[in-house]
Amino acid sequence: MKNPFEYGGVVSGNAFCNREKEVADLLRAMENNEKLFVFSERRYGKTSLVRTALGKLPKKGYVCAYVDLWPTDSEATFVTAVAKAIAESMSTSVDKLLETARKFFGSLAPSVTMDEEGKPELTFGISKHARPGPALDEVLETPAKIAGKGEQNVVIVFDEFQQILEYGNDQVERKVRSVIQNHRKVGYIFLGSRKHLIEKMFMDRARPLYRAGGHYPLGPIAEEHWQPFVSKRFADAGKTIGKERIHDVCELTQGHPFYTQHLCHVLWELCEPKAEVTEKMIQTAVQVLLERENYAYTTLWESLTVPQKRFLKGLATDVAGVKVFAGEFVRRSGLRSASNVQRVVDVLLAKDIIDRDNGSFLITDRFFRLWLHSAQTR
Ligand SMILES: Nc1ncnc2c1ncn2[C@@H]1O[C@H](COP(=O)(O)OP(=O)(O)O)[C@@H](O)[C@H]1O
Ligand SMILES: [Mg+2]
Repeated sequence: MKNPFEYGGVVSGNAFCNREKEVADLLRAMENNEKLFVFSERRYGKTSLVRTALGKLPKKGYVCAYVDLWPTDSEATFVTAVAKAIAESMSTSVDKLLETARKFFGSLAPSVTMDEEGKPELTFGISKHARPGPALDEVLETPAKIAGKGEQNVVIVFDEFQQILEYGNDQVERKVRSVIQNHRKVGYIFLGSRKHLIEKMFMDRARPLYRAGGHYPLGPIAEEHWQPFVSKRFADAGKTIGKERIHDVCELTQGHPFYTQHLCHVLWELCEPKAEVTEKMIQTAVQVLLERENYAYTTLWESLTVPQKRFLKGLATDVAGVKVFAGEFVRRSGLRSASNVQRVVDVLLAKDIIDRDNGSFLITDRFFRLWLHSAQTR
């Protein structure tokens, strides 16, 4: 039997745990043509969530373009990624694809070629390094054209939106700003990390997208939602996992979707059919995971300064939400002053080793946190 716990890729259908409220919130935003910035840590389920929401919109009357900006590195690649996503979202056949692309993006010289597997693929003739000013306008004005006066519902999703910070200038950012303001009949959803999307683009007065839309922080999946999800997957394979053990798993991963799935994946392998998950089995599963990562974590650890190590050890072993600038934490971790803590925090945030969490901080890699826990000598 195939392991039912998936980690790494986009999850959908049965493999998608709850998020009912979030799906409903996103659907409402899409239906009301809102402009929404959805942000979270990496691998928290943004892509899976937005794809699930898109899948629930009625097929009729909606044009939904999902644009993955991860592979883009310039205005030109941004332009073709958007054009391609829009054309594909409106076309059911290859003939239609080229027709749509010609209709909306004629100046980008579209053509359909065969990829390595013989599947038709839409490509554009504009050069990667061309100055794509007019093409950018053309592409970003298209959603409003399609929406017309509201006869068509149009939703555009930009995934990994922080990529636009890599383009070398803020042309795209400025154009997106004007589009968001003017396109009343189009919904825009932006996905990305808090650090980049929110702190850099959205809260900085000097940037074009300052307060340009609503913001929607995506949290972990609550234990009450993991309970039935995890329990059923073990039961379907004739294995048992008790409530307390699922609770243990959620404590260890802090409900982080990727790490929870990963730990459950290993646990499911360790548990024989007809057996029940024990505390010992959970410890073994954690051990297996930490051994796999040991080299990477050791390398990371050795690259840190003594105060950074002290801070991380303190954070890993303290209660969630601990006040790290308060006297008690400063004393216990041996960092001597709040300004020392501040310096450490700045560096660790910049390196993505920690992230902000409701006025406190957390270690982004949940297994690194456990690694810090498990090693007495570190
Ligand atoms: N709703 C969910 N139910 C179960 N697992 C999820 C869910 N959302 C995310 N995951 C887990 O997290 C991993 C990363 O999800 P993904 O949507 O790619 O996150 P992001 O786009 O935030 O990086 C998935 O492979 C899966 O293991
Ligand atoms: Mg993603």
